[in-house]
Amino acid sequence: MPLVRATRRVHFSAAHRLFRSDWTDERNAEVFGDCANPSWHGHNYELEVTVEGPVDTETGFVMDLKRLKEALEAQVLSDVDHRNLNSEVEWLAGVNPTAENLAVAIWGRIVHAVPEGVRLAKVVVHETPRNSAEYSGAKENVGP
Ligand code: NI
Repeated sequence: MPLVRATRRVHFSAAHRLFRSDWTDERNAEVFGDCANPSWHGHNYELEVTVEGPVDTETGFVMDLKRLKEALEAQVLSDVDHRNLNSEVEWLAGVNPTAENLAVAIWGRIVHAVPEGVRLAKVVVHETPRNSAEYSGAKENVGP
């Protein structure tokens, strides 16, 4: 049975600041660079979500990507698009909004939207055309 990966790509724009409140402005600037700007700044994010599963013999789909699109709009984009990721998104409260942390948080928002028999394979957050972070879920615990 061939397993195929299918990907939906969506876009959002959002403001953020990368910083730790327990660090000085100097240290935040040193570690987070331009993203530590206390007056905020924005990114045009690209978000890719990939599912993996067998190809349904009736539809020829792994899953209906329209359903994935709807889940992304309801669970992610409606909360983050044109918002401040530090202060306006309930499910990012207390999270330093790096691309890495966004990928993990977005995984948690959409993992339940994937139908039975299909696996969420990866979430990729592109913060810029050159920087991205990819999350493929927690590693399975391997017994002794
Ligand atoms: Ni930034």
